[in-house]
Amino acid sequence: MISTLRTRHLFFALNRQLLGLTLGQGQVHNFATSSITSGNRAIVYTSNGDPSSVLYAQTFPNLPPPPPNTVNVKFLLSPINPADINVIEGVYPTKPVPSHSLSTSGKGSKDSSLFVGGNEGLAEVVDVGPGITGLQQRDWVVMTKPQSGTWISSKNVSAQDILKVPRSGLSEAQAATMTVNPPTAYNMLHDYVELGEGDWVVQNGANSAVGQAVIQIAAAKGLQTINFVRQRDQIDHLKEHLLGLGATHVVTYEELCGKSFRDKVKEWTGGKNIRLGLNCVSGKTTTFMARLLGQDAHLVSYGAMSKEPLSLPTSLFIFKNLTCHGFWQSRWYLRRTPKERERLFKTLASLMCNGKLKGPEHEVLVVSGTDEDNQASLKIRDTMARLARGKFGKKLLLKIEETL
Ligand SMILES: NC(=O)c1ccc[n+]([C@@H]2O[C@H](COP(=O)([O-])OP(=O)(O)OC[C@H]3O[C@@H](n4cnc5c(N)ncnc54)[C@H](OP(=O)(O)O)[C@@H]3O)[C@@H](O)[C@H]2O)c1
Ligand SMILES: *[C@@H]1O[C@H](CO)[C@@H](O)[C@H](O)[C@H]1NC(C)=O
Ligand SMILES: *[C@@H]1O[C@H](CO)[C@@H](O)[C@H](O)[C@H]1NC(C)=O
Repeated sequence: MISTLRTRHLFFALNRQLLGLTLGQGQVHNFATSSITSGNRAIVYTSNGDPSSVLYAQTFPNLPPPPPNTVNVKFLLSPINPADINVIEGVYPTKPVPSHSLSTSGKGSKDSSLFVGGNEGLAEVVDVGPGITGLQQRDWVVMTKPQSGTWISSKNVSAQDILKVPRSGLSEAQAATMTVNPPTAYNMLHDYVELGEGDWVVQNGANSAVGQAVIQIAAAKGLQTINFVRQRDQIDHLKEHLLGLGATHVVTYEELCGKSFRDKVKEWTGGKNIRLGLNCVSGKTTTFMARLLGQDAHLVSYGAMSKEPLSLPTSLFIFKNLTCHGFWQSRWYLRRTPKERERLFKTLASLMCNGKLKGPEHEVLVVSGTDEDNQASLKIRDTMARLARGKFGKKLLLKIEETL
């Protein structure tokens, strides 16, 4: 759309001001020297930092035919998860490997530390290399290897790093988000306490993607959930939404910390022990949530969205025999066999196909094939800045088209 170099610069300068972006010399250089103008596009970075200033879009040559035992896939949707931000910031324990295979970009040999963002995503097989069995064109696959670099239009992947998922019964959004959040929810509900119909679970961050999966998987098992969320305008709308997914009660942190809340919970549960608590948030409100737990309960932490530490009354350990755990789905994948992984995916896929586990509410950000790399870069940086300001409300899924 923007045809002359001058207008493009003006557009760029304006946006930089509007977005408050601070671009280092390195990034400006990257914006300006991308020499390939059509082909496979990726969202990449060369050094860690704030995603709204280190990420940029770059176009690379199209993939050659797949080498033996690999397939070429085209990404359909790739989520932006909170952990992806932490990986780019350089504060996440799992580090991506540099994408050496993209270094034929005409940028010389400087690409030794070029990283493609993104950990999970749904892709379609477009070309099958020699030696591949059980996969064919148009099959849907998800990545089983962590930090695969999924914010890309096409990629060459090894057959052992992907898993086929059913094309029918699942939406693209469900399939694209099925390797991180639903397994986290499922495993936390099964690995610590044996829960039966009518048992109670408490959780915070209940409107997170994980929290919404917890609500639905718990409901499918006949469990009852007490769900904590932040106060907001239109809180009733959120409460309704979560109740619609199968939540038993939805409560704000203000209500949780209010004085007669524990009595209210006793009324709800009829005095039954609550034996599982799931913590996405930490900080002061989690202390209040932990006090709702009964004898021999387990508190499982999987996130720290408040960025505050977790502080618990000693009495809970002494008198109630509380046990605390940290859950990390990446560790689960490492410790479990491929068979167990397949079984888990089958279970989740069937919950999804039966309408018991919906995809997250989401918004798709299309990085259009008609955008030039610098326009695409601005779009991504703007989105990252919006995400950092919080309250996006919906899971954001990237659709990165090949540059035309
Ligand atoms: N350990 C694991 O294996 C594992 C797996 C998956 C996810 N996670 C972690 O789980 C968390 C949620 O992930 P997700 O993909 O489900 O995220 P998400 O859908 O983006 O949801 C983020 C949630 O965090 C809440 N939140 C943000 N800042 C907060 C604050 N200061 N105080 C209280 N709540 C706050 C949001 O509430 P509002 O709507 O009120 O903003 C929202 O409910 C992240 O920390 C993620 O890294 C861990
Ligand atoms: C294709 O994938 C294989 C296995 O991961 C890798 O060795 C090879 O370099 C890749 N080729 C390209 C062109 O990316
Ligand atoms: C304390 O809780 C743990 C974990 O639930 C349990 O294995 C243990 O038997 C409990 N201890 C006592 C003394 O009840």
